[in-house]
Amino acid sequence: MLSREVARRYNFHEIRLPLVERAELFQRSSGETSDIVEKQMYVFSEGEEGSPLVALRPEGTPGVVRAFVEAGLDRREPEQRYFYSGPMFRRERPQKGRYRQFNQFGVEVFGRADAACDAELLIMIDDIRAALGLELTTEINSLGCPDCRPAFREALLKFGRDHWGELCDDCHGRLERNPLRLLDCKVDVKLAESAPKSLDYLCDACRTHFGKVQDYLAAAGVAFVINPRLVRGLDYYTRTAFEILSGGVGSQSAVVAGGRYDGLVEALGGASIPGIGFAIGVERLAIAMESAMEAKAAAASSATAFTSTIDGRPDVALIAIGEQAARRAMTLARALRGRAFRVEMMSPERRMKALLQRADKIGARFVAILGDDELARGVVQLRDLRLSRQSEVAQTALVDTLESTMRS
Ligand code: HAM
Repeated sequence: MLSREVARRYNFHEIRLPLVERAELFQRSSGETSDIVEKQMYVFSEGEEGSPLVALRPEGTPGVVRAFVEAGLDRREPEQRYFYSGPMFRRERPQKGRYRQFNQFGVEVFGRADAACDAELLIMIDDIRAALGLELTTEINSLGCPDCRPAFREALLKFGRDHWGELCDDCHGRLERNPLRLLDCKVDVKLAESAPKSLDYLCDACRTHFGKVQDYLAAAGVAFVINPRLVRGLDYYTRTAFEILSGGVGSQSAVVAGGRYDGLVEALGGASIPGIGFAIGVERLAIAMESAMEAKAAAASSATAFTSTIDGRPDVALIAIGEQAARRAMTLARALRGRAFRVEMMSPERRMKALLQRADKIGARFVAILGDDELARGVVQLRDLRLSRQSEVAQTALVDTLESTMRS
């Protein structure tokens, strides 16, 4: 319930996915060398000889991408924001926080390549964390892109070959196919510490992108640590990858995980459209909450504080022109969502015309515009799209102004 409410405030729309998909979908996206595909999928045949194998979905991302491409949105309407929730299935030896059937709440954004979007998702997770009163640690890393990843991959491969005698069986098996996994090996922990790090191999564009993500997070007051060994177990990630960890869940400490996957839509037959998302492990979140009993009271009180606005349409489309304005806009968006407004923070890297068109298309009631001049003067231009009126409002008065206008 809480995640749904936060998703509404961030202007995400629900997508319902089938539990069963072609096994090939996951092989082509999660990756042949991922644990999921190598050993965790429940795969079965539908009976008829020669018919494609199907699988119980082990994760939501590939299904969302498939649906997005099948609907032709990658070519017609690439900027989309989805959320989904429901059971996922992985062949596991069950233990605390690790189950064969578990629930995820996930979000996926398509058509946004800018770092502000990466930061916005991490801020969203932080909002959920804060509403539950939980202490969690946000770890981030950048895995690079097709331009810089090959050199990093080569360096890891060389490192793995040089230390062949010290590698575990799993690493032996997948070193040549996916040397990145050496970094998150649970057996070769000591060795992984001295292995090459992706951050040392980033190209200029990836380094700039990662720097911006950090700046936005710092501006929004979200604490994070950089973990250069964070590589994630799925093959589709590019650039920003992250995990949100809890000390209270035992050895399965990642409560939320996600990252950017700019090549996945194209790899699954769509246009070249960037993507990014995350999934919360609902059971792990529940365990984290149990181990922090006082968090329960906070969750209950924040859950009752929510109010609802017009369903499906954002109250505010927030347009920041340039990065400095975007940093300030992040905090304004957060304040608005804190008072239950549904807000879509637009890309600071697009042109004004395109952003206004999008605001119109998604049915925003208000557009709040923040450029250099507004930033310097501590104001925003507030456009009421329903009444076709524009006024200048002090940033400090934005939440109150919107609240009184919407109530009247
Ligand atoms: P993942 O890291 O495989 O990523 O799973 C996300 C979260 O699901 C984990 O952090 C954990 O909380 C939970 N989880 C995973 N496996 C289990 C299990 N066996 N039992 C209980 N909880 C589990 C993904 O699934 C990606 N699709 C996330 C994503 C979305 N990346 C981009 N968009």
